[in-house]
Amino acid sequence: MKQIIGVIGDPIGHSLSPHMHNAAYRELGINMEYHAFHVKREQLENALKGVRGLGIKGLNVTIPHKVNVLPYLDEVDELARHLGAVNTIVNEDGKLIGFNTDGEGYLQSLYEFIQGDLQTKRVLMIGAGGASRAVTLTIANSGVKEIIVTNRTAEKGEELVKDCKKFCPSSFMSLEEVEKNLERFDVVINTTSIGMAPHLNKLPISLDKVKSDTIVSDLIYTPFKTKFLIEAEKKGCRVLNGLDMFVYQGALAFKRWTGINAPTQVMREAVLQQLE
Ligand code: ATR
Repeated sequence: MKQIIGVIGDPIGHSLSPHMHNAAYRELGINMEYHAFHVKREQLENALKGVRGLGIKGLNVTIPHKVNVLPYLDEVDELARHLGAVNTIVNEDGKLIGFNTDGEGYLQSLYEFIQGDLQTKRVLMIGAGGASRAVTLTIANSGVKEIIVTNRTAEKGEELVKDCKKFCPSSFMSLEEVEKNLERFDVVINTTSIGMAPHLNKLPISLDKVKSDTIVSDLIYTPFKTKFLIEAEKKGCRVLNGLDMFVYQGALAFKRWTGINAPTQVMREAVLQQLE
């Protein structure tokens, strides 16, 4: 019988996950189908009851439910518990288990881009929201030399730094301090929504002092190249957008549901086709 996978979120209309996962099932001849479900906050509990009742095999969870979904699960794996957010649910014979593949997805894309290890790298994270938390703590856990967090709201940044310190040396810097000390960083990652509509023409920080051998990255992939990445390229930096993070977080979820390795190239192409 065909197994159903879904993604829940609000809004959900523009999700590229159905295209990406259905392309993967077609490629490998897997008898699964992936659907987008528009679920409002007040229907979240019912939606998860529906997953159990209908025997839906798995879910992706996206904004704004990644945190609120935790109380409705039977088990949450250690990393997701640590992040306080779930983006992937596996239904194992009626038991709903939560995982988070966002941070791992980003880390995988960064490793592939750098083609080396991160042990010697000083990393600057811009932003301290949900997306930053998943990526920052996963990078911290992978053992980098140092992580500096900067954020408009200092308290949120300091809170993230407190958790980061469990894994690697970490501290908070204001946006102004960071701009003055940009030459200190080997990798600079924007996790804020600045660069996406309606902030298309804004920069999260000025890149005036960036070194040309710094890697500059943005979790955003619509637009494909944010103003931040365009400015970084003008400074001679290599740039990485969020497309491969999206593909790899999906691939890691795919593996959880099917037990087999995802066809990442096919998934990437399916997403690119939708972005054209
Ligand atoms: P997400 O889940 O996508 O990370 P979020 O949790 O709302 O979303 O976090 C958004 C991040 O972008 C935060 O770091 C936020 O800064 P604050 O903590 O100060 O709110 C940052 N951000 C969003 N809009 C911003 C803006 N106009 N200027 C500066 N920072 C902004």
